[in-house]
Amino acid sequence: MSYKIHMKGRDDPRTPYQIDRLYAWKHGKYFSPATVEISPTNACNQRCTYCYAWRESKSREMLRDDILIGCFDQLADADVGGVVIQGTGEPLLHKALPEAIKRGASRHIPIQLTTNGVLLNAALQDEILQHLYCLRISVIDNDPRRYADQHGCNEKQWHTLVANLERAIAVRARSNLPFSTMATVYLSENNVNDLYNCVRFCKEIGIDFVYVLEPQYTSYSPSGKRSHISSHMANAGHDIDSVCEKILSLIDDNFFVKIKLYVKEHILSGATKQTWKNDYCQGVKFYTLIGCDGEVYPCWRAWESKRYSFGSLYEKEFTEIWQGEKRRQIEEMIMRTPPDGDECLVCTICLLNKMLDETSNVTKWVNFL
Ligand SMILES: C[S@@+](CC[C@H](N)C(=O)[O-])C[C@H]1O[C@@H](n2cnc3c(N)ncnc32)[C@H](O)[C@@H]1O
Ligand code: SF4
Ligand code: SF4
Repeated sequence: MSYKIHMKGRDDPRTPYQIDRLYAWKHGKYFSPATVEISPTNACNQRCTYCYAWRESKSREMLRDDILIGCFDQLADADVGGVVIQGTGEPLLHKALPEAIKRGASRHIPIQLTTNGVLLNAALQDEILQHLYCLRISVIDNDPRRYADQHGCNEKQWHTLVANLERAIAVRARSNLPFSTMATVYLSENNVNDLYNCVRFCKEIGIDFVYVLEPQYTSYSPSGKRSHISSHMANAGHDIDSVCEKILSLIDDNFFVKIKLYVKEHILSGATKQTWKNDYCQGVKFYTLIGCDGEVYPCWRAWESKRYSFGSLYEKEFTEIWQGEKRRQIEEMIMRTPPDGDECLVCTICLLNKMLDETSNVTKWVNFL
């Protein structure tokens, strides 16, 4: 299996190719979102130290089965480009997920599943792998003890995850399935000297594409708010450049790595009260969310915060909500309300916001191709 076949286009800027949507956006016309993220549940089988979605006090919810399955028809009818199954908990805890994925695939929607992978057992794999466009596993380490510490779980989960992944990749090869595999490796104080081995481990398992990142610890994260680990490492004298160089030497025709560390480059994150700009968050028109409570929300800041809901799938169809006046009002409200504390810190569409902002501020140089 080749990375080139499976991940072609992943590392390219994707927004400029949304030509029809960009045209409609520029001219104030209606368009459907390119991507919809679904949160089947906010329950989880782990308690990752960094998890921005963690809310100790929140009651655990599952999206109603008929809504989870049926929304794929509604999203296909609405001409949505792709669906990311991810959200605020572990998607594989939802028993109706395989049925929903099958429904989405039958309507030709490309689907990315983001999961910690521990529950992806043989039976589940045989039901869903053939229907996926991408399987993304977050977050991998090559050491069971470190994995358990980072994910707030027992070491057994690491062994289960690795066995699941090895099987999934063997099944893919055997049956020539077209889905790609992606994984995230997070830098931590404990793995800096072993970061190369973590990435090599992913390569040896057969993953196509690895992101080496560091999490944004927020005030919601179980281990609390912390500054960027890579800065501490650099201050403590760790030679991060050499580590990165060694990791990048793993790239070949079948394997790709992308490294994004705070100490190496400016890492985009969502706004704070100080950096906020009204009307900047235009990405909410291209990427939207369906919460485990059935509400349609603009962005990660809004998850399960009903004051930002465009409407509920328990009451209306997706297109009706997307075309509704309430959506216009909520977009205006969220784009003109600076965040409190860390509300926006982990923003999944900050790159999209930046690119859209840049297209709004072009100079006459744009005419010199
Ligand atoms: C909340 S999880 C839900 C899906 C699934 N449970 C998982 O972990 O893959 C969605 C994504 O958010 C990422 N994430 C969680 N907390 C984060 C943080 N503080 N900074 C950056 N990414 C974070 C996770 O690594 C994962 O890729
Ligand atoms: S990052 Fe994913 S696996 Fe970890 S606690 Fe959050 S929702 Fe669960
Ligand atoms: S989370 Fe939403 S409101 Fe906050 S920066 Fe991102 S798009 Fe804007």
